[in-house]
Amino acid sequence: MQKFVYEYATKVYFGEGAAKEHLADAVSAYGKNVMLAYGGGSVKKNGIYDELKGILEAAGKRVVDFSGIMSNPTYAKVQEGAKLAKEEGIDFILAVGGGSVIDCCKIVAAQAKTEEDLWDMEMTQHRFPTEVIPMGAVVTASGTGSEMNGGAVITNEEKVIKAGMAAAAPRFAFLDPSYTMSVPRMQVISGAFDTLSHAMETYFGNSDQDNVSDDVALAIMRNTVVNMRRLLADIDDIQARGNLMWDSAMAENGILKVGRVTDFQAHQMEHQLGAYTDCNHGQGLAVIHPAYYRHIVKDAEEKFARFGKEVFGVDTAEESVEALAAFIKECGLPTKMGELKSRTEITPELLRSVADTCNVIACNPRKLDRNEIYDILMECM
Ligand code: NZQ
Ligand code: ZN
Repeated sequence: MQKFVYEYATKVYFGEGAAKEHLADAVSAYGKNVMLAYGGGSVKKNGIYDELKGILEAAGKRVVDFSGIMSNPTYAKVQEGAKLAKEEGIDFILAVGGGSVIDCCKIVAAQAKTEEDLWDMEMTQHRFPTEVIPMGAVVTASGTGSEMNGGAVITNEEKVIKAGMAAAAPRFAFLDPSYTMSVPRMQVISGAFDTLSHAMETYFGNSDQDNVSDDVALAIMRNTVVNMRRLLADIDDIQARGNLMWDSAMAENGILKVGRVTDFQAHQMEHQLGAYTDCNHGQGLAVIHPAYYRHIVKDAEEKFARFGKEVFGVDTAEESVEALAAFIKECGLPTKMGELKSRTEITPELLRSVADTCNVIACNPRKLDRNEIYDILMECM
């Protein structure tokens, strides 16, 4: 195990009715002006907005809406939120949505406290914000695990880069499976595939022999696959949605990552593909993963064999990659670039740009060079 310091920042309220029971208490420690942040309007249709606004107002808060946070949130949207937070003297931000809303709010929370350009501060000067508006999350679509970590993935449209930024983790997170019941089928499945990807990308990073992280990651992968299959049979299975909600948090709340290195090369490719195409995150991962793993399977043969055996019940390393590819098909997820919803045609030239600009991770089974990344992306065409 490598050295680590571990401290947990987020208090979790899990279960049906959690907000009704605990939200007023959870926000009582913060000031009067609460920013209620959400996406394109699903929370208005399914009643979550009214329920939360009612709870906040009954608790004596002044509620300021910040709406229209898009999937793959942009840096421009962050600036809009930060401006509003400053103008309204916001004391607390409540992010209500999936990973996109929560990520956007994490960076709004920091940007609202500084006149510096946060992107430049983090990406160029490698300095990180020290002051933030406290924020909490109410998860309405699970998968990313953003509600329990201090990272945020933001698209800088001017620079054509989608990248992780450091931010403060939410002070609390509400995970109510009933809030996810209106999430469309494809988003449910692609969100769950994102969870599977997080556990796989952690597991395939280098770790010490018999590291507990590997064992827990495999358990999360198994459980995610089992519950995704339950949802394929019955998309309204609330128990399976709840199981996946906690898998999602567990895969990305950091507990798997302490004391080891992780891979996350598939994520780096997908994020940059997202910068060019605005594609759905989980769906982009579904396209990239099998092609990437076919390239590195020989570099971590034992690990792939164990993964195949414990998650899909197959025998060899190569079979494990094909079992993953078959599972992606079984889920009805995209398997080729052309099946992704993209704002622009995905051409070899576009993929060359993705390969030339994506982050290259050093500590996966084998460091890739940009030509191999391009080959992998082209194999997804
Ligand atoms: O915008 P609305 O109308 O709310 O619709 C959303 C959106 O269209 C809809 N939705 C959410 N809750 C709903 C609902 N529809 C009906 N009923 C509900 N209860 O779901 C759609 C997708 O939402 P989004 O937040 O974009 O999805 P997801 O949770 O997959 O988040 C994706 C973003 O998170 C980043 C991704 O890169 C991407 O930008 N990630 C963040 C991570 C982190 N911070 O730890 C890790 C991940 O690897 C990932 O990169
Ligand atoms: Zn992800």
